[in-house]
Amino acid sequence: MTKKPEDQMQKITSLAKRRGFIYPSSEIYGGFANSYSYGPYGTELKNNIKALWWKMFVSDREDMIGMDGPILLNPKLWEASGHLTSFNDAMVDCKECQRRFRADTLIEEATGSDLEGKLDEMSAILIKAKVKCPECGKSNWTEARNFNMMFTTEMNGFDGQVYLRPETAGSIFSDFKNIIDSMRVKVPFGIGQIGKAFRNEIVAGNFIFRLREFEQMEIEYFIEPDADWESIFDAWFKLQEEFTLLLGADKKDLKVYEHPKEKLSHYSKKTVDIQYNYPFGWQELYGLAYRTDHDLKSHQQASGQDLTYFDQVNNKRYLPHVIEPTFGLDRSILVALCSAYNEEKVADGIRVVMKFPKAIAPIKIAVFPLLKNKPKLVAKAKEVFGLVKGDYSCEFDDNGNVGKRYRRQDEIGTPYCVTVDFDSLEDDTVTVRDRDSMKQERIKIAELGSYFDKNLGN
Ligand code: GAP
Repeated sequence: MTKKPEDQMQKITSLAKRRGFIYPSSEIYGGFANSYSYGPYGTELKNNIKALWWKMFVSDREDMIGMDGPILLNPKLWEASGHLTSFNDAMVDCKECQRRFRADTLIEEATGSDLEGKLDEMSAILIKAKVKCPECGKSNWTEARNFNMMFTTEMNGFDGQVYLRPETAGSIFSDFKNIIDSMRVKVPFGIGQIGKAFRNEIVAGNFIFRLREFEQMEIEYFIEPDADWESIFDAWFKLQEEFTLLLGADKKDLKVYEHPKEKLSHYSKKTVDIQYNYPFGWQELYGLAYRTDHDLKSHQQASGQDLTYFDQVNNKRYLPHVIEPTFGLDRSILVALCSAYNEEKVADGIRVVMKFPKAIAPIKIAVFPLLKNKPKLVAKAKEVFGLVKGDYSCEFDDNGNVGKRYRRQDEIGTPYCVTVDFDSLEDDTVTVRDRDSMKQERIKIAELGSYFDKNLGN
């Protein structure tokens, strides 16, 4: 197992802020509960990851379609899905310093035993094992109690509590009937969705790893009840793994965790997590579950609507089973940042470079005039910028000297920098510098288009 430097998370967090990827939100008011804003480059990175996901899992596949449901849904849906009763974490407070923790996490860290879901045993173990408060070091706990993680709100015209969706999957099931009635889908097929989800986590943290407001990219893949679900499950697992590699993750930083049979919900036949070796240790990145027909069956029962699918070829009607590959978008971004972060020794010190795969790099090309105060150079550089900016996300930079601009673009992860110098005015060539090798080559301006098409894959 590779051990990452302990200060790496700190370095990534500070680069993310310094270079406009991710800022602590509401900072001028003292911040707000581990929430973050994506800055200009973070937004580009996020959009590129979403586009990559949508292309790979929705638009490039004949058996997939996409949808975009709302955050506020009829609360009956969450009753039927079991979220109102069972979407709980065990919470415990330190009576000395009043800090709140997840009881199962405290116990696992102190004793190594995994008591998730066994609320009855937690209070006794906290006392017996003299588990100490990570904040004040004392061992004086309240009873462990269940805490429902759904965020609540109210709505004009609706009498009762409304919830912010805790996962995007809910509306895929509640719109299943509309989809099979309006689209010419044939089982097996899947529905993909990207959007916000909200969980009132007892403890959020580790930068954008555990947030209370986050985004998911989820798929519900519908199959016949007697399909060979194991091979479909394995194929989805391989695709999830492939996607992590597209983010730049190294295979050695990925491992599989299969949930033990005795901890699975009664309806789940198999659940696995893909874990990533974050700077703070191995933790979940994505999940994959075979959920049988549990979801459609529960919604059919609760709504009284027929959610069966009619297979015209075989003349049979059934409730499809479902395989659910789920991807956290913010965790994908964190993996992209952690995987890209590199420090390299160079002649004048250390070069920090974000080696994002080109497809997700927020800026693909930066264009510089060698000197800011030479109007002819600036005009020529603007001309070159105009040539490439229609096809790629580009940036024009004339601040500081070229060395400083390279350093800045390295930290943003820009694959190519183009410099217009005095020779460019004579021979219509420019210097193109490669982010990873730092090699520079002279390219004719007229050939830049085909050069970038070849190297950036348009
Ligand atoms: N529909 C299934 C579902 O929601 P989950 O394992 O609870 O499954 C799916 O969540 C993914 O969402 C996780 O694998 C993770 O990537 C992401 N995720 C879950 N909770 C999160 C949180 N509090 N902050 C950021 N991402 C989270």
